[in-house]
Amino acid sequence: MLRRLHPDQPTSFAFTPANQAWAEAQITKYPEGRQASAIIPLLWRAQEQEGWLSRPAIEHVSEMLGLAYIRGLEVATFYFMFQLQPVGSVAHIQVCGTTSCMICGAEDLIAVCKEKIAAKAHQISDDGKFSWEEVECLGACSNAPMAQIGKDYYEDLTTEGFAAMIDDMAAGKVPVPGPQNGRYASEPLSGLTSLTDYDSGKTQYNASVQLAVDIGDSIKRIDGTEVPLTAPWQGKDQPGAAAKRDDQMPPAGPDGAQGGRTAAEEAAPRDVGDSSDQRSEAPGEAKGVDAIAKPAQGSVAPQPKSPTPTTTVAASAEKNAETTGTKPATLDAPRDTGADNLQRITGIGPKLEKLVNSLGFYHFDQVASWTSEESAWVDQNLEGFKGRATRDAWVEQAKVLASGEATEFSSRAEKDDTNEK
Ligand code: FES
Repeated sequence: MLRRLHPDQPTSFAFTPANQAWAEAQITKYPEGRQASAIIPLLWRAQEQEGWLSRPAIEHVSEMLGLAYIRGLEVATFYFMFQLQPVGSVAHIQVCGTTSCMICGAEDLIAVCKEKIAAKAHQISDDGKFSWEEVECLGACSNAPMAQIGKDYYEDLTTEGFAAMIDDMAAGKVPVPGPQNGRYASEPLSGLTSLTDYDSGKTQYNASVQLAVDIGDSIKRIDGTEVPLTAPWQGKDQPGAAAKRDDQMPPAGPDGAQGGRTAAEEAAPRDVGDSSDQRSEAPGEAKGVDAIAKPAQGSVAPQPKSPTPTTTVAASAEKNAETTGTKPATLDAPRDTGADNLQRITGIGPKLEKLVNSLGFYHFDQVASWTSEESAWVDQNLEGFKGRATRDAWVEQAKVLASGEATEFSSRAEKDDTNEK
């Protein structure tokens, strides 16, 4: 595929002041003499700001890094994560057309793009909102067919679901990324047959999707004002900081960087609400960010671990503002009947169960009685697992379990236990 600069170029490029400051902070991450390694994140931010990379943008970034323009051009023209021509104002859709995806229906997805967006790749739709292209394998072959839209992967697609997703995006919604057929990640459709305790402690969505939902800006242009610009090492351990803009960036340096979210997934901590890494983060960065909505009609929702699948960054920020909440009633020890097996609640593994017990909670009915204020207190006090109680809907699950009924997860866990004996 020929990757050339677009014939129509703007006369100049400048980062917004906020993005400029962000870019300068990124450069400080690299040792003296190695600042050129910041080229991928800086080009990516330029693209996040403008939607595509113009020649002035590539030259601006090259100048910031003290590079000859040709070095910047080499990187920008090599990786197809960089768009070298204007793209749709809402989203540029990259449909994987390599073997697995082709066998599983990529050509049908491309037909949807041709019908709903434009007859040819890289053409912008009549309403200016979308553009599309076919790309090579994006590394999600076990979830074929798939497409990268904005920063995220949409997997296990059907033509109907894909078409509905485009309609949703045109209407201002952002469907939850990830598998669209009910899978959590890339496990067998019939469920896990080994490593079944993987359920312990997992987030509502898989790590990549959870990040997307928490950050909430999948297809939004970034002008930098969404993030208080701090040096990369600042913001460490800020309470409740849920989203890390840096986690959206491809890794520094050109090695293997194709597609922000996937690269970021590798670098991101599993518990996105409780990171102790040294990336810039701050509460309240949600300003103006689009909601990530329910999956498009015609597709199957990701596994329902919570009754509140719609998440916005604004909502996260609001939640984060509750630094203490209200402490629920606790017990010094389990009642005489013995403690309930809290691991029947999805998201609670052995370690987290011990922690929950140490806070004074041993029984389903205790958890079931928490108000939202009390859940907030618990969330704040789950050291190393902050936010899990709300995220995994413990109260709703505990209500079912306290009534003697089983949840889908607890039945599965019960069966696994029986099989092991
Ligand atoms: S073949 Fe489509 S992601 Fe690999």
